[in-house]
Amino acid sequence: MKKSLLSIALVLGLMTAAKAQTKIPPDIQKLLTKNTCLACHNPDTKLVGPAYKEVMKQKKYTPKQIVELIYKPKPSNWPGYPPMAAMSQVPKDEALKMATWIAGLK
Ligand code: HEC
Repeated sequence: MKKSLLSIALVLGLMTAAKAQTKIPPDIQKLLTKNTCLACHNPDTKLVGPAYKEVMKQKKYTPKQIVELIYKPKPSNWPGYPPMAAMSQVPKDEALKMATWIAGLK
């Protein structure tokens, strides 16, 4: 009994380790950090806000739509989450780069 529990734990552990974490390209990582997006978002897991992959799975935005949502979030799109603050301080070219990366996530 003890042994089988141990092997289950081992298999689960291996599965978690094998589950690939999204690699953020260095230039995008820099922008997401600078603009504090990563304080609330992770590509793969829910933090304060939804995972970027979850966003793309549910909403399938174009980069342009994502840029608009950075400047003017629509909290009604994500019931159960606190509202994201509008981030008008994000430079347009940076917003577009991040949005293009997010839109390409699968
Ligand atoms: C203080 C926390 C916080 C920060 C900082 C933050 N977000 Fe969010 N974000 C949220 C929350 C919470 C939601 C879900 C509720 C909402 O949309 O208002 C969200 C939603 C989103 C969505 C989905 C929008 C929709 O309507 O479907 C995108 C895309 C997004 N954020 C991108 C970004 C980007 C890019 C940045 C950095 C420029 C950023 N967020 C910074 C908390 C944050």
